[in-house]
Amino acid sequence: MWRKSVMNFRGFIRSFVENKGLLWIFVIGISGWSTVSILVLLKTRYETDSTTIGVSTAYSRWINTFPSIGICLTKSRAFNEFKAMMREYFQEDFAFSFTRMIYEYAFLNPNNIFTKEPTKNTSYPYNFNILDIRRKMFPTNCTECFKEIYFRGELVTDCEEIFKFHVTEMGYCFLANNLLDYDSIEEMPLRYSSLDNNRSLRLYMRSSVMYKYEMYVNSPEDLPFFNSLTYTISTDPTTYAFNVEEIHNHEGVIDEPISQRKCKFPSESSIEGFPYSFSACMSIIRSEFEMKTCDCSLFNPKDRST
Ligand SMILES: *[C@@H]1O[C@H](CO)[C@@H](O)[C@H](O)[C@H]1NC(C)=O
Ligand SMILES: *[C@@H]1O[C@H](CO)[C@@H](O)[C@H](O)[C@H]1NC(C)=O
Ligand SMILES: *[C@@H]1O[C@H](CO)[C@@H](O)[C@H](O)[C@H]1NC(C)=O
Repeated sequence: MWRKSVMNFRGFIRSFVENKGLLWIFVIGISGWSTVSILVLLKTRYETDSTTIGVSTAYSRWINTFPSIGICLTKSRAFNEFKAMMREYFQEDFAFSFTRMIYEYAFLNPNNIFTKEPTKNTSYPYNFNILDIRRKMFPTNCTECFKEIYFRGELVTDCEEIFKFHVTEMGYCFLANNLLDYDSIEEMPLRYSSLDNNRSLRLYMRSSVMYKYEMYVNSPEDLPFFNSLTYTISTDPTTYAFNVEEIHNHEGVIDEPISQRKCKFPSESSIEGFPYSFSACMSIIRSEFEMKTCDCSLFNPKDRST
């Protein structure tokens, strides 16, 4: 009975001068003044929109859910390294142009398209399956990507408690606080209250020549999709700050017809086990469209863990 949206405006990015070599540090901070901005926002809503009642302005104690954080793998320019890895896996030396093509396909997503005609090389006995290549060569265990994680200033020893692996239409991603993994926001690991002074998530990433990381910040029901705002994670330690606005609907709202309220709740999904959201809907429609027109798609909504 709730909907949540994340305002990622007002993000300020501060790069520290200090560069810690291989460590990629960035912090997602939610600063205290964001609460004040939310109150102001609610007040404005209350004054301009007769259907919104800003009762939350009276809360002196509250618990809020951190947004969903997605860390997705994206391509770098490691064609030679990829060639070497292909050699190791298949015990065979492939032509550079061929491995490059496989590399490009492995990182294919709606924002990262490869328009060249596939090179046909009949001298290879393999029937190259891009999903297989991804499974063999890219990490699916968060320990391979996350070096250290701190939430509210405390070290999280097991990254799997927070980041769950999923395949989205943007490729291989580790998602935190996403409704794909939890039945309700109350069960999510990243929550903070009025009593927490340190409302930050700090991530130290492991660097790889094979891929780079891209960060997505969205509501817990949303998935990284082609139209999401992304934040490229560089080697410079960077801080991002976000305002979080959480909207609680009255329980009775779900009894209103969908045509009347003009939106759906995450539980009202057309695909079983998939929380409904605009982004999930877009990804599913894209996948269906691709299957219809080309009989292939890298994203299969029914199989999100391979
Ligand atoms: C096909 O692969 C072989 C073996 O690596 C290579 O010598 C040949 O140039 C490739 N052909 C094309 C068209 O890429
Ligand atoms: C991920 O790797 C860690 C450390 O190597 C291991 O303990 C854990 O079981 C792995 N998780 C999965 C899901 O394979
Ligand atoms: C929050 O905790 C992190 C990690 O311990 C620390 O680096 C950071 O300075 C803390 N932030 C505040 C505002 O205390």
